[in-house]
Amino acid sequence: MKTVISTDRVAAVELLRKGDLVALPTETVYGLAADALNSIAVAKIFEAKERPRFDPLIVHLPNREWLRRIAELPAGDRQLILKLADKFWPGPFTMVLPKCKLVPDIVTAGLDTVAVRLSAHPLFAEIVGELDEPLAAPSANRFGRVSATTARHVLDELDGRIPLIVDAGPTEHGIESTIVAIRDSKIAILRRGPITHEQLSEFADIVSVTVTQRISAPGQLPSHYMPTTPLRLIDSAEAFPPQTNRRVGLLAWSGASPSPQAFATVRNLSDRGDLREAAANLFRYLRELDALGLDLIVAERVPSRGLGAAIMDRLERASHR
Ligand code: TXA
Ligand code: MG
Repeated sequence: MKTVISTDRVAAVELLRKGDLVALPTETVYGLAADALNSIAVAKIFEAKERPRFDPLIVHLPNREWLRRIAELPAGDRQLILKLADKFWPGPFTMVLPKCKLVPDIVTAGLDTVAVRLSAHPLFAEIVGELDEPLAAPSANRFGRVSATTARHVLDELDGRIPLIVDAGPTEHGIESTIVAIRDSKIAILRRGPITHEQLSEFADIVSVTVTQRISAPGQLPSHYMPTTPLRLIDSAEAFPPQTNRRVGLLAWSGASPSPQAFATVRNLSDRGDLREAAANLFRYLRELDALGLDLIVAERVPSRGLGAAIMDRLERASHR
């Protein structure tokens, strides 16, 4: 199959309507989309990504009215759910809710819950709105690999496996949406992301999620987001010793000046010490460093407040093997 990169929305809608896959930009990362109500189309996502069938997908709604057709809103949690939707939709925010019958089992991997989101990306919104059907869309990378934040990254991951990638330049946030489950008027954060713990705690108590509960969402497996080069976390590059036989790449945060013999190459997540900029650069720099055939990538820890917690979450998984 020939994979085309273009800005052709009409072609995108046509392909989706006939049950084909299209990679689309969202405000977080690129997604690999299929008509969520067409099981055969959704099965193609699992094939293209080599994703295990037990890993459920996020359903992206055309608009807020679709929420009630896809998910049940339990009476006790309804107000909280609607408040969160009002505040964070459209945006980088996903809620796991009891599912409606309309949602095929393949989308939720047989779970009785469904993850729903409303994307704020203008092109995504236009295409899903025109289609007027929800889109199942995981990140547009092969399973377990670094998410794609540009059309080119999607091509690197899925060339020959999908017909079309819609290009809208680099994505805004650079890391995937925050995922929460709502239970008994409390919020459980299943995946950290652009909407922070601090922001959510204004709406309800936040409960911590145990490791076994997390495994029910395989995106939470410890070794997700893996570059092929080994990655190690350090506090500061200044203390990293000069290397003689190894080529080491540095993913820097602190702005400290490391020994010039220590690193073959350096990518600085943000010159301004800005966590938003760091998140937006994270996957691109990991990919660039991974492509250099280095012996090791070392990444400086970022402060774990606000968005930094979501960045550290990705770095910890990327360094886990
Ligand atoms: O920003 C994003 O969320 C991107 C864009 C494309 O929307 N999508 C994304 O999808 O990151 P994906 O499939 O790469 O990650 C979704 C995560 C997976 O870890 C999956 O296990 C979890 O959401 N998930 C989906 N449905 C779930 C459910 N019913 N219960 C628990 N976790 C669920
Ligand atoms: Mg993913």
